[in-house]
Amino acid sequence: MSIRNLDDLLAEGVSGRRVLVRADLNVPLDKQSGAIADDGRIRAVLPTLTALTGAGAKVVVFSHLGRPKGAPDPQFSLRPVAARLGELLDAQVRFAEDTVGDSARSTVDALADGEVALLENLRFNKGETSKDDAERGAFADQLAALGEAYVDDAFGAVHRKHASVFDVPARLPHVAGRLVLREVEVLAKLAGEPARPYVVVLGGSKVSDKLAVIEALLPKVDRLLIGGGMCFTFLKAQGHEVGTSLLEKEMVETCRNLLERSEGKIMLPVDVVVADAFAPDAAHDTVRADAIPSHRLGLDIGPETVAGFAAALAPAKTIFWNGPMGVFEMPAFANGTRGVAEAITSADAFSVVGGGDSAAAVRALGLDETSFGHISTGGGASLEYLEGKTLPGIAALED
Ligand code: 3PG
Ligand code: MG
Repeated sequence: MSIRNLDDLLAEGVSGRRVLVRADLNVPLDKQSGAIADDGRIRAVLPTLTALTGAGAKVVVFSHLGRPKGAPDPQFSLRPVAARLGELLDAQVRFAEDTVGDSARSTVDALADGEVALLENLRFNKGETSKDDAERGAFADQLAALGEAYVDDAFGAVHRKHASVFDVPARLPHVAGRLVLREVEVLAKLAGEPARPYVVVLGGSKVSDKLAVIEALLPKVDRLLIGGGMCFTFLKAQGHEVGTSLLEKEMVETCRNLLERSEGKIMLPVDVVVADAFAPDAAHDTVRADAIPSHRLGLDIGPETVAGFAAALAPAKTIFWNGPMGVFEMPAFANGTRGVAEAITSADAFSVVGGGDSAAAVRALGLDETSFGHISTGGGASLEYLEGKTLPGIAALED
């Protein structure tokens, strides 16, 4: 596989050229205020942007935010992101009110060498996510017309066959940005010959989202630790009652099958924190995983589980973690996620945190980001990579 990267483009010279950069600026927004709750994805793309501006390119950034339905929707405007990007770059970022219309064209035309523009949300246009190749292609034509070269730095979106990810690179000289290059290098290490023991920690709410990656990882890993909402479907498969905890009934049989085939590699919680309700101030207690009361729901893994997971993580040489262990946004149910995160950073291992939620958890809990080997900006993308799937955005960069 040969993918050209940003250095190749810089070597050709970009001064005065209009360079399109697909970024994943899909940041979490505070539900009340609409403010940016975590700017990690904006910071992650700065190395690519400053390399280009430093070399005198006219940089045109585009991204999606949230899941608007193919038409403008003010709650998903990228305008606040443009402001934050300008602060982080310490430079003016020109914001276009549309993606490929008059505002986009005039904003791009007004760019001086070394300046940056951000276009409005790609998903305000039906063509971006269309399953119809012609409809996507027509939108990609309009996007491609705005630039002379294309840089993909949107690792979080490389698993999407969308116009800005898949079709624009077919129309312009294309390279991988610094972030995409680093993410792919790290994940290739995990998918190749990881140093052992290789321990994977999975959490999050749904088994169905993680099934493919569990199947793909089981033969590769030495240990697979399962927490988060999805552990209850596994506990049910072990024959335990789970009260009113999150449960995917149609997945119980699949989980039973996975447990049988796992050769003892899968570790499940032995105790859980149960509550009366899904609320920050709900009454809660720690109970054995086989004694969850019928009227209560599990919202975190318990301390004995954290200790067991920590013991499994201690000797690891490679660790991949995706998905919180509990409802970490509520302090009463954050101890499992915190404890596992601390055990990961204490191990003398190359550790990779995959996924928007786990990365946000690391920052929200005030943990030191630099104590992890790599924090991926892509949740779905990193899982699909580890599943061995072809990622449309990476395939499009290959020559
Ligand atoms: C993400 O947040 O996972 C990426 O930005 C992709 O977003 P999507 O799942 O809405 O395509
Ligand atoms: Mg996602």
